[in-house]
Amino acid sequence: MTDAPLGPRAYSFAAFCFQAGMLLLGMHTIKAIYPGTFDPLTNGHLDLIARGAQIVDELVVAILRNSEKGNPLFTVDERKEMIFEATRQFGNVSVMTFDGLLVNFCREQGAKAVLRGIRAISDYEYEFQMAMMNRKLDPNVETLFMMPAEKYTYVSSRLIKGVFQLGGDVTALVPPLVVERLKAKSTTP
Ligand SMILES: Nc1ncnc2c1ncn2[C@@H]1O[C@H](COP(=O)(O)OP(=O)(O)OP(=O)(O)O)[C@@H](O)[C@H]1O
Ligand SMILES: [Mg+2]
Repeated sequence: MTDAPLGPRAYSFAAFCFQAGMLLLGMHTIKAIYPGTFDPLTNGHLDLIARGAQIVDELVVAILRNSEKGNPLFTVDERKEMIFEATRQFGNVSVMTFDGLLVNFCREQGAKAVLRGIRAISDYEYEFQMAMMNRKLDPNVETLFMMPAEKYTYVSSRLIKGVFQLGGDVTALVPPLVVERLKAKSTTP
């Protein structure tokens, strides 16, 4: 999906007018949150964003500030910048950060859906538990699962960082600006 150029930035004004019009007419628009740590953004994430942006009216990529994953490589601001740059092409995608319960953030944002990616069976169990827990916490929030293009089914931020640190080539698996940021990190003391 990331191979196909999608809506130009100029389209965002038209999308905004469309959504405002729909609201005025009392029709529903669907806003979804795509949460994650994105440390860093990969082409797998981007693939999912492109797919999600095609089926919901508004998609918010939401970086979890206090992740339990330990020491991140990139700061939240760096991750936000990278996602912002890489998703400029989409008229209906924005980037935010959040803390605490995802369902609370969804409520604050007026979002009734959460977008998550399933790469392989290994993702399923954790994602299933999270979706069920979120449903328990707020039955009005639905979790939407999407699958990336086959070529990204093995891509994770953790693997990208590991391979890059060992000198491997990750250029086909992350956006070019992420490659630049990875190189810059590895040269900064
Ligand atoms: N290659 C991919 N294809 C589809 N979905 C993905 C891909 N990578 C991550 N996701 C999904 O994006 C969401 C956010 O994931 P997350 O930020 O944990 O990324 P990650 O690549 O799994 O990072 P990490 O290796 O640090 O766990 C999750 O729903 C995850 O399943
Ligand atoms: Mg993960």
